[in-house]
Formats: sequence, C-alpha cells, structure tokens
Amino acid sequence: GDVAVLVPAAGAGVRLGPGGPKALRLLGGEPLLVHAVRRIAAAPSVHTVVVAAPAAEVDAVRRLLDPVAPVLVVAGGAERQASVANALAAVPPGPAIVLVHDAARALTPSALVEAVAAAVRAGHQAVIPVLPVVDTIKEVDADGVVLGTVDRSALRAVQTPQGFRREVLAAAHAAAGDPLTDDAGLVEQQGVPVFCVPGSEYALKVTRPFDLTLAEQLLAAGH
Ligand code: CTP
Ligand code: MG
Repeated sequence: GDVAVLVPAAGAGVRLGPGGPKALRLLGGEPLLVHAVRRIAAAPSVHTVVVAAPAAEVDAVRRLLDPVAPVLVVAGGAERQASVANALAAVPPGPAIVLVHDAARALTPSALVEAVAAAVRAGHQAVIPVLPVVDTIKEVDADGVVLGTVDRSALRAVQTPQGFRREVLAAAHAAAGDPLTDDAGLVEQQGVPVFCVPGSEYALKVTRPFDLTLAEQLLAAGH
C-alpha cells in the first residue's frame, strides 16, 4: 500500500448531544471510530492508519483499536485542523498519498477510500468526494429574510476521505492560518487544483441525533 489515512477523532460531538466524545459513541454496539477504522483498513491500498484521539482517551483508543487493525494513535487538538496536523506529523516515511477521513463518517465504504486514492495516484494533487446538493439553497439575512436563491447546479456537498499527494497536504498544513472545516480548503489556499470524484450516501457524517438513527438503520441493513 502507498496510502496513509489520517482519522481525526478528537471532537466532542456537541451537536450529537451528551454522551462523551462522538468517535466513541456506539453504533450497533461498537464505537463509531471502530466502524470507520475497520472500513479504512479493509481498503487494499492502505498502508498506515493514524488516529487523532481525544487527549484523555489516547490509551483507551489504542486498546480499543488493537484488535481491529494496526494503527498509530496520537492526541488530537482543540480544532479539527490541529488534530489532522498532529496525525500528519506521525506518519512514518513511505506513503506517497495521504487521505484524511472523519471518524464520524463511520459507514464509509472501503471502495470510496480506494476511489479517492486511485484518483490521486492517477495524477491529481488533491481529490474530494462530493454529492450534488438536493435542496433549494437560499441566502438569508440575520432577520430571516431571503436575499436570493443560489444556483444549486454549481454547488456540491463535500465528504471525506479527501486525498492528497503527501507533500501537498504537508505544505498546506505548514502554511495554514485560521482553522477550516476541511483539508481541501487549505490546499485551495495554496492555489493547488482540487478534483472532485463521486461521493457516497453511506459516507454521511454522523453529526446530529437523526444521523445516528439513520446510521443504525444502514448498519442493520448490512452496510
Ligand atoms: N475532530 C477532531 N478534533 C477536533 C474536532 C473534530 O479530530 N478538535 C474530528 C471529529 O472527531 C470528527 C471530525 O473531526 O470525526 C469531523 O468533525 P465534527 O463532525 O464537527 O465532529 P465534532 O467536532 O466532534 O462534533 P461537534 O462539532 O458537533 O462538536
Ligand atoms: Mg466539530
């Protein structure tokens, strides 16, 4: 394998509600992080997995993942971007491609990991999985009054795993300023083109309680 996958898993899960760090919340009796790492490790291209865990949970996460797959576990940071940077710093020499994948996208198919890695291998410096936006999107002011309707045809909802030539991601993080919600955003700031590939409905991010209910149903249905 020529791919390292960084798994930011150090978030609190505020939008999911009380119950501890989101990556450790249970889905079908196993933590979201376990589901995510199992699917990542099943992708044939994956050589190394580095998890950024909540600082207080690093040892517990090591024990949790030991029977699942060989992984490195580091402490995350206060923002997702810092967690990714910590994980990136722990990647050993070797892998030429680095993917960044949210633990919260627990049911992401291994095939999507492979597809993103393959697009980087084929020559793209940065690759993101995307879906079309299905709702009508409006811009609204602070009083709730509509300012206008946005042209949806040019918009995409962005998922992970996001894939990069290793040196491209490293340079983007080295130059990073204010925290962004994804890694492609940092690469865009460097003027590097970012290429889109088709995402997957199963790569939904468990963010709110409804998402956890949906993911439970998808897991029970065999995904
Ligand atoms: N993440 C992280 N370090 C942080 C914040 C987030 O590693 N300081 C990770 C989360 O664990 C998650 C991914 O980044 O796997 C996407 O973030 P998000 O869905 O926002 O998760 P949380 O930050 O945990 O949720 P919330 O924003 O609702 O608190
Ligand atoms: Mg968050």
